[in-house]
Amino acid sequence: MAAKPPAPGREELRATLKKSRGLFRVVLLFSIFANILVLTGPLFMLQVYDRVLASRSEATLVALFALVAVLYAIMGVLDYSRGRILGRVGARFQSMLDRRVFDALLRRSVDPNFRNRPATGLRDLESIQRLLSSPALFAFYDLPWTPVFLFAIFLFHPLLGWMAVAGGVVLIIATVLNQVLSKTPQRESLQASGQAEAFAEAVRRDAEVVQTLGMRGAVLGRWRQQRDVALATSIKAADVSGSFSTFSKTWRLFLQSGMLALAAYLVLQGELTPGAMIAGSILLGRALAPIEQAIAQWSLVQRARQGWTSLTQLLEATPEEEEKTELPRPKAMLDVAGLTVVPPGEKVPTLKAVSFRVGPGMALGVIGQSASGKSTLARAITGIWPAVQGKVRLDGAALEQFSSEVLGQHIGYLPQDVSLFDASVADNIARLSPNPDPAKIVEAAKKAGAHEMILKLPEGYDTRIQSGGSRLSGGQRQRLGLARALYGSPVLLVLDEPNANLDNEGSNAMNASIEQMKANGGSVIIMAHRPAAIAQCELLLVMENGMVKDFGKRDDVLRNNVKNHEKLAANPEQPAKIATQRAPAIASDQAKPAASVALGQVPPAKAPNVERKS
Ligand SMILES: Nc1ncnc2c1ncn2[C@@H]1O[C@H](COP(=O)(O)OP(=O)(O)O)[C@@H](O)[C@H]1O
Ligand SMILES: [Mg+2]
Repeated sequence: MAAKPPAPGREELRATLKKSRGLFRVVLLFSIFANILVLTGPLFMLQVYDRVLASRSEATLVALFALVAVLYAIMGVLDYSRGRILGRVGARFQSMLDRRVFDALLRRSVDPNFRNRPATGLRDLESIQRLLSSPALFAFYDLPWTPVFLFAIFLFHPLLGWMAVAGGVVLIIATVLNQVLSKTPQRESLQASGQAEAFAEAVRRDAEVVQTLGMRGAVLGRWRQQRDVALATSIKAADVSGSFSTFSKTWRLFLQSGMLALAAYLVLQGELTPGAMIAGSILLGRALAPIEQAIAQWSLVQRARQGWTSLTQLLEATPEEEEKTELPRPKAMLDVAGLTVVPPGEKVPTLKAVSFRVGPGMALGVIGQSASGKSTLARAITGIWPAVQGKVRLDGAALEQFSSEVLGQHIGYLPQDVSLFDASVADNIARLSPNPDPAKIVEAAKKAGAHEMILKLPEGYDTRIQSGGSRLSGGQRQRLGLARALYGSPVLLVLDEPNANLDNEGSNAMNASIEQMKANGGSVIIMAHRPAAIAQCELLLVMENGMVKDFGKRDDVLRNNVKNHEKLAANPEQPAKIATQRAPAIASDQAKPAASVALGQVPPAKAPNVERKS
């Protein structure tokens, strides 16, 4: 019978820990024996003082000592073994969750708000692993024995017992206070250092800008501020923990001597044997050792607790993707119906009730001013941002019905800003596939018009692209991005402002690849900045403020919405002038040459120099 998968979050972490239940039990068993063997020392002491010395028997001493040596050896082996086992339990916990946590981080990072915060998931996981493998955990296994040892002290003499209990209570109060007082500074320190790290990362990525714009001083200042906060709070936390740790150590030493004094007094009164005096003192040390150890390692415990909470939240927010029934390769039928999209973490929709259809062998151009929602539309069609209302369907199936890996094979996406990964050109085109197909890589590069360009690189397809692709020009990156989008023959190609960085040759290659997509029965959607890009499109969609202003055959839409459409047909490189219906027509404007408004730039929305088209 297959077990129900655990709910994401806390349940999932617990279930993973439970998989090591067997090992925890072994550790428990070892701990029980190790703690029983702890009694070896005090018992030996008792025997030596009260029996050997009293009877003056050397043979007894030798026999007892040999027994003690064997028992200590066994205790050492048990202690060592449980250390090794717990070390592996920690490693196992981390390795079982590594992939899941990283995947959750990746998926969560699609949300821009999350992306800009320090991602602590992997470090949280490590903090739990470190606790699992640390002596702090031993302390928890040994803690249940504290009452047993205290009880043994009571057997020697009730007064000694009460003294030990009082001493222990003081230590426990110290532990609780430590937890309460160091919690906040430690959390703040963690937060501040995470922020400083994320800021440093972001600044390093844009080192060029920082250098050229003379921002280094300012950047260093900001970074220092965050680092200083991190340091100050971390010192505060360390001060608190340190003082409690010192206190508990000193207190335990003092208590041991205090007990010895009390016991000596009792011996003088004839109420206790000298052996019991020494044995009681040793037992007290053992009884309180776990408490002291827990305090000393408390920062580890606390870090792991914070890690546990924040991992719980991360996993809760990104449940594992369900297995989806694999659908056959879809036809290039894209149906967008009443699509409303709110960027993750935002409240206001940036796409409102958008509807259109594109069939096989067709290309759709999406034009509109800057911030009109073109890139949002691209993200919704590719399934990156979910629809809050309406549906995007590919060959009749809503995008959610495809698993994201499979959807990625059907849809080729060229984002507005292409960034490449630290890998070879070939690997980048093959989307870092573990078993790339060289023939398909070259085919994609040829379709994207990137083949010749790649051959000119120092090591051709094996040229390593440094992170972000900074060694390549914008046009080169865009062509590699197109090749990557075309890898594996997707049925739908979504290009977000592909012409932005392309020269003529690049534009021609792009047009050829769009033609080829259409000829093969695929469909293409182009978010366009310059009209040259829509030469291949039979359909046109005009976006305005996240809504569809017009949709239809390209020439009709052009005629209705773009003033200079005739000239545009002759020379597509020329900027288009979109007519704004809300703007009042002003006669005198027709005489003046209208301010040209390139698509994608913000035109004055109600400027009088934009005429009305009817
Ligand atoms: N990551 C984001 N988070 C929040 N809002 C966004 C994000 N990206 C874009 N927007 C908003 O969505 C609107 C449309 O942007 P976008 O789709 O990028 O327009 P276009 O591509 O047409 O220039 C803008 O108002 C922009 O501020
Ligand atoms: Mg855009």
